[in-house]
Amino acid sequence: MDARDTFDRPLRDLRISVTDRCNFRCTYCMPKEVFGRDHRFLERRELLSFEEIARVAKTFVSIGTQKIRITGGEPLVRRDLERLIEQLAELGVELTLTTNASLLAGKAQRLADAGLNRITVSLDALDDATFRALNDVDFPVERVLEGIDAALAAGLPVKVNAVIKRGVNEDQIVPMARFFRESGPTLRFIEFMDVGHTNGWRLDDVVPAREIVARLDDAFGVEPAEPAYRGEVAQRWRYRDGRGEVGVIASVSQPFCSDCTRARLSAEGKIFTCLFAVRGTDLRALVRSGASDAELAEAIRGIWGVRTDRYSDLRSSATVGLEKVEMSYIGG
Ligand code: GTP
Ligand code: 5AD
Ligand code: SF4
Ligand code: SF4
Repeated sequence: MDARDTFDRPLRDLRISVTDRCNFRCTYCMPKEVFGRDHRFLERRELLSFEEIARVAKTFVSIGTQKIRITGGEPLVRRDLERLIEQLAELGVELTLTTNASLLAGKAQRLADAGLNRITVSLDALDDATFRALNDVDFPVERVLEGIDAALAAGLPVKVNAVIKRGVNEDQIVPMARFFRESGPTLRFIEFMDVGHTNGWRLDDVVPAREIVARLDDAFGVEPAEPAYRGEVAQRWRYRDGRGEVGVIASVSQPFCSDCTRARLSAEGKIFTCLFAVRGTDLRALVRSGASDAELAEAIRGIWGVRTDRYSDLRSSATVGLEKVEMSYIGG
């Protein structure tokens, strides 16, 4: 039987973080002052093995999960990731990956061959200087675009996610829209969120989705499109000239908790039932204790069954300061 939470939301999506490490230091996600030499990253022995991840994922599928996303940190820094993809592809559910694409050019074909269905690339600017400053490791935008091209060439549909922060990259909205509507990927703009507690988030930093849409409308003319499926996170907009679509993710200004069917598994095997959770529930001990599939399924059903999360619906000055987990630990 499918798992349901206290608001009757099913457990449809599982987002698996395979590492808390990343080769970028995006200023809004892993600021260097916090994620420098002294930061304690997870040790290798703390990580779930690919076999353990696949076992947990299989259990999720047995209680109703239909979509699996692999995230990080940066998932492609974990060695031999395609071996995990191969195992997860056997589950027969939609399988996607979120990446900064820095290592994608050399891996796209292998990921596709292993059974990945599609890919989401995080890219917050097309202007090279702006992008280098944002990733804070001087990584050139050209190499991300090469990664995207390699994914498309390997037959993987690509989405591009751009987090927009006031005064930092809002000037990239129109140029990015122009660039991507002429090429293969679907572009989505994301409101900057108060995830974690190290990125110094302020409400003033958010460019609300309606403002993003107004800028797109001024530049190109856009009209709303129907959601592709119930609970779709992105609102879709169509260019009036018929040349493509663009999305906005209004996680701050128009929260979507009531349709939230997402669970997150950290690289060390903790389940988080909300992106903004302060605590997760450990599954690794249970997995390593030799629990049966039925026991594992019961444990996950239990965690989901008591879920009351709707952080974004309740966001306030009091919640913003909570010691929440970091995006680099739990993935997007
Ligand atoms: P598609 O199936 O590709 O459309 O995926 P998606 O849009 O559901 O997921 P994606 O990982 O591309 O999400 C894009 C961004 O939306 C994330 O990086 C987050 O910033 C935000 N987001 C996704 N899921 C949640 C969520 O459950 N809560 C909140 N508050 N934000 C979310
Ligand atoms: N707000 C919104 N999105 C964020 N991401 C990371 N930090 C934030 C934030 N504070 C996005 C990344 C990437 C995905 C993994 O999460 O840009 O697209
Ligand atoms: Fe940037 Fe993504 Fe790495 Fe965070 S996890 S630092 S958003 S590339
Ligand atoms: Fe889901 Fe939590 Fe995001 Fe709301 S804030 S949509 S409950 S992950």
